[in-house]
Order: sequence, then structure tokens, then C-alpha cells
Amino acid sequence: MAQNWTPGGWKEFEARHLPQYEDASELAEAEATLEAYPPLVFAGEARALKADLAEVATGKAFLLQGGDCAESFAEFHPNNIRDTFRVILQMAVVMTFASKHPVIKVGRMAGQFAKPRSSPTETIGDVTLPSYLGDNINGIDFDPIQRRNDPQRMVKAYNQAASTLNLLRAFAGGGYANLREVHGWTLDFMGRTPWSTKFAETADRIGEALDFMEACGVDPATVPQLQGTSFYTSHEALLLPYEQAMTRQDSLTNDWYATSAHMVWIGDRTRFPGSAHIEWARGIGNPLGMKCGPSLKPDDLLRLLDELNPSREAGRMTLISRFGHDKVEDGLPALVRAVQREGHPVVWSCDPMHGNVVKSESGFKTRPFERILREVKGFFDVHRAEGTHPGGIHIEMTGQDVTECTGGAVAITDERLGDRYHTHCDPRLNAEQSLELAFSLAEMLNTEVNTRQANAA
Ligand code: PEP
Ligand code: CO
Repeated sequence: MAQNWTPGGWKEFEARHLPQYEDASELAEAEATLEAYPPLVFAGEARALKADLAEVATGKAFLLQGGDCAESFAEFHPNNIRDTFRVILQMAVVMTFASKHPVIKVGRMAGQFAKPRSSPTETIGDVTLPSYLGDNINGIDFDPIQRRNDPQRMVKAYNQAASTLNLLRAFAGGGYANLREVHGWTLDFMGRTPWSTKFAETADRIGEALDFMEACGVDPATVPQLQGTSFYTSHEALLLPYEQAMTRQDSLTNDWYATSAHMVWIGDRTRFPGSAHIEWARGIGNPLGMKCGPSLKPDDLLRLLDELNPSREAGRMTLISRFGHDKVEDGLPALVRAVQREGHPVVWSCDPMHGNVVKSESGFKTRPFERILREVKGFFDVHRAEGTHPGGIHIEMTGQDVTECTGGAVAITDERLGDRYHTHCDPRLNAEQSLELAFSLAEMLNTEVNTRQANAA
């Protein structure tokens, strides 16, 4: 257990990107409400994810983490949850089939609301208002009432997270994720696109493998792993008053856990040494992610790892690099070498989204698919050169047929961005683009596994 730590001790440290609430009693009331609500996840589940991630750290599995940049109250709908879940399953199946390694599935879902923003205010014409900070803090509409920070929004976000998680648990364990259903996961709007056809081929081959196994007496009725899947939740632990209210002591071990999600991560803007977010995170037992962007110095990374994982527990730390397609090959090796030299067991994951944002000619914030792919390839190349495991991918995606990122085989052009641009924050891969990325990843993983086996022989 962490020394000299309390769930509220972070208040003595420098906290960036936290909202100011006008009325302290309104905040206290919302915090008291949340403190009396049940945990969303249990400590044992967080430990199960940590054990899965320990397998990733040693190269025996791969992490797939994805979902919205920002969940919203407006897009809260069972079909949206189902469709994102389904695309994550499809991606995982494609990657598992190619690599013959398990894929650990973690949603940016059921709690991913709060957003750090580059500017505290937004100006349109001659009106300046506070920036939108995420639906658990204020509203996206550009009007003064909506943009007021309202602590009751945390309570609404908790309730939405609870029902989202409830549905995800039902999908994961209630038959929907049964491998026999793999054909049924093709989304209607994918129709006859190249990736849905390729997915159908993979589904056929999985079906044949299942038929063969069933003939040998191994089927979903006898092997529970075929009936469902493990699916975990995660979000950026940005809004510390909410996280503190959801930080609970595990009755089994007496350790403290974030019960707002199985895994939480610290963003690139709040992971500096001495930050309130790091102080809070060091005391919880969950697996932790930390974003690593171009401004992170190897020495600072090592200090942070010593603080967050002093006992060097495998599965505790996932380092999510987000350099940009043109910086990853220059910037990542120094971090990988420092971590290797000090013997910290980490999962290396690649976020190819946040270093690749551009403003399109039509004025939309977008990400070119080609740059996303290039960053992923660069990430794999660095790890091949350093002899380390490219352990995971962290993406902003949706199961919806949106037009937010340009490119891909079913090319989204700059002119089409306005057709279905629905995100509440950053542009997401749509279902087709996500599947296309999964097939590219599958090839890269396959090469990695074969190279490793050849080297070991
Ligand atoms: C995010 O993941 O939505 C995010 C804000 O990322 P980063 O902290 O890497 O900028
Ligand atoms: Co984002």
C-alpha cells in the first residue's frame, strides 16, 4: 500500500485542468451523493485486468483499448454502446486470429467524459465563454448557462456509466460475444465493403475451426471461454473530485481502488512530476495508463514509474505513446531504452490519434487515416529495433458510420467530413476504418510473433 497517502491528499498538489465550481456547497452535495453510491467495478476485477496486462507486458498477449474521445449525454443510446462493443470484438477477433495471441479488450467507455482543453475559453465572434470540458462538467452548446460548471453533472455521468457498464456486462457474458455469433457482428451499413468481406472470410475460418473442435468434443457448452469474453472499462482520471468520491477501500485486501473503471489513465497534460493526478493515482491499486508525448523526458518518465509502481509489479503500468506519425521514430526509442535499462515491466501501447490532429481545409478538426497507420508502423518498427514488445493500441473510434477522420480504403474525403461529424471532442475512426486498422495490425502482429519465434528457435 502507498505510504502517506489518502484519497483526498491530491488537494495539496498542483492540479491542472480541473474545473472551478462557483458554489462549494453544491460541489460538496454532489460528492456526498456519489460517495453513497455503489462502486461501478470491484477491486477483484481490476486485479484480473492487471493480471491480463502482466501477460501483455511479457509479450504473451496484446491490448486493444478504444472508444469515444468523449462520451456524451446526447449520444447515450443502447445501439451506440452495442455498435462500439461490436467493432471492438470484431477487431479483437481479427487480431487474435492472425497473431494466435489473446487480445485484452478495454473500452474507453462507461466513464470517459472529462476533457483537458488547450484553452480555458472559447471565442465566437465577439463572445467569449468558458471552454466545453466534457458532459460531466458543463454543456457543449455555446451559451453561458450551458457552459457553467455544474457538479450535478457528475451524478448524471455516474448513472450513465452504470447503465453503460450494465449493458456491456450483459453483452460480454450473455451470449452476444459467443464466438458462434461472429458472423452476426457485421454491421448492416458495412454491406459489401472490402473490410466486411474480409471479415466474413475470417468469420468463416473461425466457424470451421469451431466445427472441427466441436467434432472433437470442445464446444461453447463445455468451454466457457467460447461463450463470452472479458471486457473492461477505462477512462482518463481527470476529474479528481469524481474519482475521489469513487475511490474505495477493498474489504478483502484493505487496499484502495478506483471503482469508477477497471483501468484509469493519466493524460499527457497532467502527468508531470508533482501533479495532483499522479499523487491520487499512486495510491490506488488499479492498472494505470499514462500518456507519453514528445515533451516527456526519459528521466521524468523513470521518476514517475518509481512513484506509480515502486514494487515494479507487471501489469500495473501501461505507457501509451502518442508522438505523431513524424515524431514516433525519433522520440520513442529514448523512452523505451530508459525503461529497459531500469528494468521496469511495462505494457507499451500506441495511441496513434492524439499526435495526428490536423485542421482540414473545410475547417473540421480531423486525422488522416494514413498518418494513423504510419504512427502504428513506426511504433512497431521502434519496438522491433529495441527488442521490446509492441503491446497494444489505444484508439478513438465508434461503431457509428461517422465521417470524422479522412482517408481509409472507403475514402472519407475532406468535403465529406461535414456529412456525419458527430464527435463531442476529437475525430474518431468509424467502424470501417477501425476494421481496416485491425487488419493492418493483424499483419504487423503476425510478423512480430513469427520473428520472435524464429529468433527463439
Ligand atoms: C485523450 O486520450 O482523449 C487525450 C486527451 O489524450 P492526451 O492526454 O494524450 O492528449
Ligand atoms: Co481525444
